[in-house]
Amino acid sequence: MDKLLIRGGRPLHGELRVSGAKNAALPILAATLLASRPVVVRNLPHLHDVTTMIELLGCLGVQVIVDERLGVEVDASTITNFQADYELVKTMRASILVLGPLVARFGEAHVSFPGGCAIGSRPVDLHLKGLEAMGARIEVEGGYIHAYSDGRLHGAHIVMETVTVGGTENLLMAAVLADGQTILDNAAREPEVVDLANCLIAMGADISGHGTDRIVVNGVSDLHSCEYAVMPDRIESGTYLVAAAATGGSIVLRGAAPDSMDAILQKLKETGAAIEIDGDTIRLDMQGRRPLPVNIKTAPYPGFPTDMQAQFTALNTIADGASSVVETVFENRLIQTHEMNRMGAKIKIEGNTAFIQGQASLTGAPVMASDLRASASLVIAGLVAQGETLVDRIYHIDRGYECIEERMQSLGADIRRVS
Ligand code: EPZ
Repeated sequence: MDKLLIRGGRPLHGELRVSGAKNAALPILAATLLASRPVVVRNLPHLHDVTTMIELLGCLGVQVIVDERLGVEVDASTITNFQADYELVKTMRASILVLGPLVARFGEAHVSFPGGCAIGSRPVDLHLKGLEAMGARIEVEGGYIHAYSDGRLHGAHIVMETVTVGGTENLLMAAVLADGQTILDNAAREPEVVDLANCLIAMGADISGHGTDRIVVNGVSDLHSCEYAVMPDRIESGTYLVAAAATGGSIVLRGAAPDSMDAILQKLKETGAAIEIDGDTIRLDMQGRRPLPVNIKTAPYPGFPTDMQAQFTALNTIADGASSVVETVFENRLIQTHEMNRMGAKIKIEGNTAFIQGQASLTGAPVMASDLRASASLVIAGLVAQGETLVDRIYHIDRGYECIEERMQSLGADIRRVS
């Protein structure tokens, strides 16, 4: 099993181009199931999760062609199968995103029930309730969700009990081909939901209010082809910015989406980093200083993203003072702190809060990654630590970060993949 070997203590300096956003690419690929003509998706990141989603589309009988400009052309007119098997769903929970499109377009979907994962129990009850409100019949049997509809789904007024990104995306995709109007209240406002809505609009959907907590969809009879480029990844961007700040370095990110990163950039400024935005370029310079501690409380967008919590926790471990990090979105997302303590961090957990006393430095150690963002945070901890850190189970990191060791090396980090 691959591991990352890091020799820490070097400030990062350099320039990177931001990849396409994983969490926008996955729903957009699922949305191609709704179109009766081929859709071309560009700016897809080269990640395991994206490959898994393409594999899932292939299993459904969808024709997927990679064109000469590395765009992926998806033709769902060849679909032969409506089942997302356990073998794929267990490796990627986002497979649940094919449920809404399949039942809306074909009146039938069988998707393996995604279980919990390292970060929490992660139910999908709100996806199912919403589809039922739109007329789908849902049965759960043998570990599978079976969804059926006789004819088209119908519009409905759905008030989501909790803000859910995937739930909003699934229901949005189902609503675009439903009969009549659907109103999604308490909808997720995440930029990735907006990117999905913009892609659906480019395919001919009638959607308004995306980016607010009320999305209104007027169903249309079919969707056509389009070409769509996935938005830049705000979490990948944030991760490299934090890595540069934690090491006292500087970085220039090109092709970023700073408008989607307000909460992240504000916290980075509080660490003492100088930040300049120029169009889609973000410049951060820590000028060799040790970061100031920042208090964090995760919340749905536009609040501070849970997907950046672990990285900021890593930065706080070596900050000049004490801080607290409150995780409100997932129940088990402070798990990486135990590994950080093995590197000399001083973190105490009480309920959903981590109390961190910043240390002058960490010491390298063998550590184990438990999920994608936890892995990224352990890499950051390794970059600031004295000595060698070996991060195990880095298959998690390959799900969400394109060539992380090459990109970190280009910034001057001493990091390599070993088996
Ligand atoms: C998406 O997961 C992201 N994944 C996650 O990114 C991200 O952490 C999360 O949104 C929150 O921003 C993708 O976009 C593929 P949710 P999702 O439904 O949609 C509860 C990463 O590292 N809930 O918004 O699964 C749920 O338990 C990842 O890239 C219900 O109770 O998250 C959680 O507490 C991991 N019932 C909260 O809502 C439901 O039916 C938010 O979850 C659905 C969710």
